[in-house]
Amino acid sequence: MEMPSDWTRCIQFRLLTPSDVPVLKVLCADWFPIRYPDSWYKDITGDPRFHSLAATYCGSIIGFIVSEVKPKHKCSKEDSKILSWQFNNRTDVAYILSLGVIRELRGHGIGNIL
Ligand SMILES: CC(C)(COP(=O)(O)OP(=O)(O)OC[C@H]1O[C@@H](n2cnc3c(N)ncnc32)[C@H](O)[C@@H]1OP(=O)(O)O)[C@@H](O)C(=O)NCCC(=O)NCCS
Repeated sequence: MEMPSDWTRCIQFRLLTPSDVPVLKVLCADWFPIRYPDSWYKDITGDPRFHSLAATYCGSIIGFIVSEVKPKHKCSKEDSKILSWQFNNRTDVAYILSLGVIRELRGHGIGNIL
């Protein structure tokens, strides 16, 4: 992808909406080895439990993150193990369900910002 030198200044961020679902499906099929059910796309773009943010360039989604804030005791045992023992079970943690950046624009800090 040919990009102008100052392209990162033009990146914008916005919330995902249900109208993004067709594009999200294409991106997820490219990025992840698993296939998410339609209900997952509906949830991440419509359920306020999820924080779903897109990075866009010239109006197109170039990356996105989906996260959820939940108490530590609702995390899987495996995930809980990586958290400090100092957090009690009621501590809220931000859990990232999904994070991706299009292949052509990886390595430029977009994932970090998301
Ligand atoms: C992981 C991903 C989102 C990173 O996006 P990116 O825009 O290239 O990331 P950045 O340029 O902001 O780099 C972020 C950091 O992650 C590191 N990183 C990038 N890709 C990585 C990878 N595949 N494995 C491990 N670390 C990685 C970078 O070195 C950087 O570290 P630093 O901040 O210490 O320098 C991107 O590679 C991607 O979409 N991968 C496919 C989907 C995926 O595996 N998602 C994660 C699981 S949900």
